[in-house]
Amino acid sequence: MRPRRTALVTGGSRGIGLEIARRLAEEGYDLTLTARESDALRKEAVRLSALGARVEAEPGDMAAEEDVRRIAAMHTARFGRLDALVISAGVGSAGRLAEYPIQRFDKQVSVNVRSPFLLIGELLHLLRATAELEPATGTKIIAVSSLAAFAPEPGLAAYAATKAALVALCAAVNTEESSAGVSATAICPGYVDTDMSAWIHDRIPAEEMISAADVAELALAITRLSRRAVVPHLPVLRPGAELWRG
Ligand SMILES: NC(=O)c1ccc[n+]([C@@H]2O[C@H](COP(=O)([O-])OP(=O)(O)OC[C@H]3O[C@@H](n4cnc5c(N)ncnc54)[C@H](OP(=O)(O)O)[C@@H]3O)[C@@H](O)[C@H]2O)c1
Repeated sequence: MRPRRTALVTGGSRGIGLEIARRLAEEGYDLTLTARESDALRKEAVRLSALGARVEAEPGDMAAEEDVRRIAAMHTARFGRLDALVISAGVGSAGRLAEYPIQRFDKQVSVNVRSPFLLIGELLHLLRATAELEPATGTKIIAVSSLAAFAPEPGLAAYAATKAALVALCAAVNTEESSAGVSATAICPGYVDTDMSAWIHDRIPAEEMISAADVAELALAITRLSRRAVVPHLPVLRPGAELWRG
């Protein structure tokens, strides 16, 4: 019998990460789910288990290096393989650059760029080893970046800079690892209807935003691609005449 595939999903307690985790569980993946707030995380892990998946909740702060290393080590010890690493944990805060507190910039760098770099580094050996067992698809890194990486908006300089760095990180991973069957994709959506985008509901109603389900659909499609197709990034726009409409 084919061994069950596994995924590690950061930002897995709500929003886009949770939706991708749910789709992966339905698809037959076992999961490590991580986020900071452990009660919400454990509750969602129990819910996803009802879909027949083994789901391990491993709380941690992506801004804390020791947490990132522990989460990678726990997934490795529990499952011994990794078919998909989904990096959805991310933070953003708006403010004009001239008055922007550098601590808020540092926090976004830490969660949005430093932790993906660290997590990928910690898990590459496992991704490579699993890719050897999966000659058709190899293994996938799926990072949720943002359309802001390509089309920054006023007030989102820090966020846009970190998300552009995440796109570049995925591209760089592909140059180093795709020949070994490990490829990385940065999904870059405009506004998605989750808690994170609630601050802009006065200008963009929830029903005009991209759905987390659509982002999850793309993530699932990436997991099914053969290893011969590498997709470095995937912009997702809202409908309208404006090019790069976030
Ligand atoms: N919503 C949008 O409009 C939009 C558009 C483009 C891209 N994105 C990106 O999509 C990703 C997911 O966003 P979302 O909309 O799903 O947001 P969300 O609903 O606010 O969910 C964010 C998730 O990340 C976790 N998280 C936040 N900070 C963390 C930290 N320091 N350490 C560990 N986990 C942390 C949260 O759990 P805890 O709070 O418990 O830690 C939660 O599980 C983010 O990277 C975001 O930048 C969002």
